[in-house]
Amino acid sequence: MSQRTLVLLKPDAVRRGLIGEIVGRIERKAGWTISAMELRTLDRETLEQHYAEHVGRPFYEPLLEFMASGPSVVMVVEGERVIEGVRALAGPTDPIAAPPGSIRGDFGTIVRENLIHASDSEESAERELKIFFPSRG
Ligand code: CMP
Repeated sequence: MSQRTLVLLKPDAVRRGLIGEIVGRIERKAGWTISAMELRTLDRETLEQHYAEHVGRPFYEPLLEFMASGPSVVMVVEGERVIEGVRALAGPTDPIAAPPGSIRGDFGTIVRENLIHASDSEESAERELKIFFPSRG
């Protein structure tokens, strides 16, 4: 089942020079295509929409501040079961709990600075793609 998902390489990944490493892992999956990719410093309004479900959580404000602290890579990735697939490549939210071989397991230690975001369902993907790429339909 071909799908589209929104992938963000967070500011920690960009600052640490991990764009190539992470994009390479996505690119090497058979049949997946990166159909949009841009270096973009995310503004507060975009982040408020994206993280609306986390309003009121203790990590919300520091998360928005971190996510606006420098450029992110904003991508659309398309292909077979790509929603589940990119999340499998990323590993669980907490990098210490993430297995070696996953992006977070290989490169992360801090929960907030966990390198990558990927939509968690078809509904989230459609919602998030509209926020980050409003003109792409
Ligand atoms: P992600 O799962 O992509 O989306 C929500 C983000 O909030 C998550 O990645 C982390 O960056 C951050 N986050 C989630 N839980 C915590 C936490 N307990 N402490 C700090 N940051 C968190």
